[in-house]
Amino acid sequence: MILQPIMLKRLQTKWGVNTTQFIIIMCVFAITGTTTAWITKVITEWVGFTSDTYWLWRWMLRLAMLIFGYQVILLSVAFLFGQFPFFWQYEKKILKRMGIPIPGEVKISETKLPIAKTHDSINVHEITAGSDLRATDAQEPVYIALFASGAGSNARAIIDYFRKRPFVKVALIISNKPQAGVLDIATKENIPTITIAKERFFKGDSYIPDLKSGKIQWIILAGFLWKVPAALIEAFPGKIINIHPALLPNYGGKGMYGHFVHEAVIAAGEQKSGITIHYVDELFDHGAHIFQAYCDIEPGETPEMLAKKIQVLEHRHYPEVIERLITNAGV
Ligand code: GRF
Repeated sequence: MILQPIMLKRLQTKWGVNTTQFIIIMCVFAITGTTTAWITKVITEWVGFTSDTYWLWRWMLRLAMLIFGYQVILLSVAFLFGQFPFFWQYEKKILKRMGIPIPGEVKISETKLPIAKTHDSINVHEITAGSDLRATDAQEPVYIALFASGAGSNARAIIDYFRKRPFVKVALIISNKPQAGVLDIATKENIPTITIAKERFFKGDSYIPDLKSGKIQWIILAGFLWKVPAALIEAFPGKIINIHPALLPNYGGKGMYGHFVHEAVIAAGEQKSGITIHYVDELFDHGAHIFQAYCDIEPGETPEMLAKKIQVLEHRHYPEVIERLITNAGV
C-alpha cells in the first residue's frame, strides 16, 4: 500500500510536473481509457459484431481502436484539459518508436563518435548511457551555472532535462549581454542571473566569489562567446565545458560561431558536420574533447538547414553528456 504513493511520486518526478498537473494528467488517462472502451463498444455494435462473430475480427477491431483511436482520443482529452503540450511529447515518443514520421521534426541521420580523450579528473571512459543517479537522491543537488549570451535554446534544453532530474540544479545563469534571450528564460524559470562586466570578468575576480558562494560545482557554456579567463579555469579545474556546433578541431577558433560555422562548413563542401562537447581551456574551442556526434550533409543543403540539424543534435546530447559527467565526477 505504502509503495503506491512512492511510485506515483517517482512518476511525477520523472514527468517533471507539479502535483496539480500530475492529478490532471492522471484524469486525462482515466477519461481516455473509459472513453476508448465506450467508443470501441459503440463501434463494435454499429458494425454488427456480436459474441458470435469470429474472434479474430473482433480482436482486430479492438486492436485498431487501441493503437489509433486511443492516441487520438488521448490528445483530444488532453487538449480539453489544457495538457496538449505534455501529451504531444508523450505521443511523439510513441510515434518515433513506431517509426512514424512526426510533422515539423527535423530528420537527421546521426552517428555518435566515441568519446575522444580522457581527462585528469574524470574517467570519461567509464561514462555509460543512462547512468543511474538515484544513489544521489538523498544528497544535496549538484549546482551548475550556465554561461550563455544567445537565444538560450541549449539553456532551455538543459533546464528542461534537469527539471526531471532534481539531483542536478541549474542554480545560476550568467550572461554578458543584458538583452540575451536566455535571461528571459531565467526569469520565467526563477533562476538567478548575473550580467557580467568585461573589466571584472577579465581583470578582476572573474566572478569567482559569486560562483563559490552559490555553491556552483560545474560551469556549462552554451553560447558564451567570451574567452574564459585563466583564473576561472584554475578555480574550476576540469569542471568547465563548452559545446561547439561543428566537428572540432575543424571550424573552431576565434570568429567561428553561429552561422559563420555552418556557412564555412557548407562552403568547404563537407559531407558531414556535427557537435563537439569539450573541456574549456584558455584558447577558443581548444580543450580536450568529451563527446562528438555527427550528421550527414545532403546535397543542396543550406547553412540554415544545417543549423537546424545541428541544434537537434545539441539539444539531444548536451544535457545527457552533462548528466554523465556529473554522475561520474563523484564516483
Ligand atoms: C550553439 O550552437 C552552441 O553550439 C554554441 O552557441 C550556440 C548557442 O545557441 N556554442 P543557443 O543560444 O543555445 O540557442
